[in-house]
Amino acid sequence: MDILKIIQISDCQIGFIEQNLSWQKDLDNMSACIKAINRLKPDCVIDCGDMAHGPVGTEIHANQKADYLKMLEEIDRGIPYQTLCGNHDAKGSPTFESILNFEKDFGKSYGSFSIKDTQILYLNSCIIHDSSQVQDLYNEQWLWLEKAIDKDAQYRLLFMHHPFFRDSIDEEDHYYSLPKAERIKHLELLNDCNVNMCFSGHLHHNLQNSYQGIELITTSAVGKPLGNDPCGMRLIEISDRGIDHHFMSLEELMLKNALS
Ligand SMILES: [Fe+2]
Repeated sequence: MDILKIIQISDCQIGFIEQNLSWQKDLDNMSACIKAINRLKPDCVIDCGDMAHGPVGTEIHANQKADYLKMLEEIDRGIPYQTLCGNHDAKGSPTFESILNFEKDFGKSYGSFSIKDTQILYLNSCIIHDSSQVQDLYNEQWLWLEKAIDKDAQYRLLFMHHPFFRDSIDEEDHYYSLPKAERIKHLELLNDCNVNMCFSGHLHHNLQNSYQGIELITTSAVGKPLGNDPCGMRLIEISDRGIDHHFMSLEELMLKNALS
């Protein structure tokens, strides 16, 4: 079996390191990750969202988004790259308009594709976290997900911005994970459909949880890390041995970039 390589990055969040005063450091981090992506030649890259730190609708956000899009041009042609919607990309409480604006640049905010017998699904977790102003979009995504999971695929991986939970499946609702009712509703469907692993960002540090047979992996930020983990990205490899994944720090990536 050919090895399938997927790179997951998250939270480039351009502007966060120096609180929007300047964002060269964030761009430098992103550039180092892109050099590593071009060196590793994955089958695809999934960016789990929060591309820019400035508030949605402001000039700062527009400039940071323009720099993010420019940076994506450095990725070798032929490496598919999917940007997912983070809470900093769609307002804290998303609206129909804020999601539409995101989709103008990055395509539909949920979807799926298959490579080498592995199905990759991605969700807009912002409309799950707070559906108060986007109930129709929430319903549309849920109805799609119920039918979209390919039971004939060898593996099924799901990507989104928010983790399902941080400390426990029963934790109270908070900013950092999906609301309790939603995490249970979604995880039960994913478990019934034999989804193997879910990957998220949002926390800006690494975290590993599980629900029934599903591994729940959160990856630290490309931009500003919060907590003890460094910034970096995750390499997921699928081979005859199954699914393997590991986090690579920016420092490690830069050393290997320099040697190549
Ligand atoms: Fe973030």
